Amino acid sequence: MSSGMDHFSLQPLLLQLLSSRGLALAGLLLLLVLCLRARRSRRPGEPPLIKGWLPYFGQALKLQKDPIGFMKTLQKQHGDTFTLLLGGKYITFIMDPYQYPFVMKNHKLSFKVFSKNIIRKAFSIQKFMTSELNNELRDCYQLLQGKSLDTLMDNMMQNLQEVFEHQLFKTTNWDVTHLLTFCTSAVFEATFTTIYGKFLGADRKKLITELKEDFLKFDNKFTHLISDVPIELLGNTKSIQKKLIKCLTSEKLAKIQGWSEIVQMRQDILEKYYTSKDVEIGAHHLGFLWASVANTIPAMFWAMYYLLRHPEAMAVLRDEIDHLLQSTGQKQGSGFSIHLTREQLDSLVYLESTILEALRLCSFSSIIRYVEEDLTLPSETRDYFLRKGDLIAIFPAVLHQDPEVFEAPEEFRFDRFVENGKKKTTFFKRGKKLKFYLLPFGLGASKCPGRFLAVIEIKQLLIILLTYFDLEIVDDKPIQLDKGRFLLGIQYPDSDVLFRYKVKS
Ligand code: HEM
Repeated sequence: MSSGMDHFSLQPLLLQLLSSRGLALAGLLLLLVLCLRARRSRRPGEPPLIKGWLPYFGQALKLQKDPIGFMKTLQKQHGDTFTLLLGGKYITFIMDPYQYPFVMKNHKLSFKVFSKNIIRKAFSIQKFMTSELNNELRDCYQLLQGKSLDTLMDNMMQNLQEVFEHQLFKTTNWDVTHLLTFCTSAVFEATFTTIYGKFLGADRKKLITELKEDFLKFDNKFTHLISDVPIELLGNTKSIQKKLIKCLTSEKLAKIQGWSEIVQMRQDILEKYYTSKDVEIGAHHLGFLWASVANTIPAMFWAMYYLLRHPEAMAVLRDEIDHLLQSTGQKQGSGFSIHLTREQLDSLVYLESTILEALRLCSFSSIIRYVEEDLTLPSETRDYFLRKGDLIAIFPAVLHQDPEVFEAPEEFRFDRFVENGKKKTTFFKRGKKLKFYLLPFGLGASKCPGRFLAVIEIKQLLIILLTYFDLEIVDDKPIQLDKGRFLLGIQYPDSDVLFRYKVKS
């Protein structure tokens, strides 16, 4: 749930403008009202101001077309700090990674101001959030760590193995399928079952498939949902949102067995603040469900995609995993039987490096804060003055693509994060060791609380696939990031690709 989403609402808005006349009208009216905001001029001491010729939208079109290339050009022209007009907002971008701690630590920069608006729009949570409710719900994040994480991890492994069980006993012939569709089903089903539990009854498979389909329709409209376009103008988006919320109310959740500790704690808290029949409880659950799968699905896709395109990497990973399974007495049998502890998973450095490398290449998550009071931004070369009411943003995708930090940054190198057989954590810029070099999970107050589970889930899924199946890419077409969700998190591919798999003989 990106704190910054709301402020990039211009991009879906533009899509709407291009695609529908009614929305074009709404957009034009909005434009007239908001272009007044574009009149601002740079004051002494402020960062360079780049407004572009389009009032309100500012530089949005250029940024959407090529986010990293455009930001690098601006950095070359204006230095490491500059202010962009985007969607009626003035956003100061901090490009120097040595200045990131300033954004994290400054108490005049707020993260909460945004999340409220996004949560209201995306999930229809109206009562959000008294500080107490917000704080209590955030306390639940501790249940994504420590012993609770161990339990989640064991359940996840079991659920993932169940997802693939029927395939394992099916056929030993090649099965051709679309990779994104495959990853979506596996991640959605295993994550939902691990976090929310299992539907009861004979039609459980049907229920989870229906939920997944509705979720995908909802997620597909996500950037539109958080835009300035009223939900009523977004076709059936509102009805899908409503349907999903209704699927996750207290009454419906009661029919699901095996809630995780975090869902139980969230439900207990929500029942203190709402009557148990209040549908808004379902809206809170939808928010959490969205956070737990929306980025994990494309992250899983990219990890698998790069492995399929790099058989040499796949061979090293297979070896690493086989070695661990042998040394823990878990030789491949006829059925699923893998059990690995967190320490054992951690010891798979090439597997972890592969996942980090995939995240480096596909993450466009940004870190955005609201400037609550006028302030001075210090830097090595000069200080800049920032205005109250503006936004400040870190867009780490540019750092992830910096050739000074990552040699040949456009290449997938599965062992980029391994050094002397251990996890590599030393990356340099301007001769100094970087504290922050990879930020797919955000930073500071808004850092993803589900990051450990996300990486564990991707590791477990890859272990199952590499251990039990032969895997090959079928489509050799090159695919790109679809930048539709730029600044929002992990990017989807611009098209799906075929791959094939069969049970290892
Ligand atoms: C590869 C997978 C994932 C990625 C890349 C990712 C990334 C992120 C990022 C960047 C944020 C912060 C957004 C901001 O600045 O506002 C975030 C927030 C969040 N994530 Fe994740 N996430 C992933 C998986 C998960 C999983 C598996 C869970 C839950 C089990 C989860 C739960 C959350 C929650 C609850 C928040 C909101 C935190 C808050 O209230 O401040 N995420 N995630």
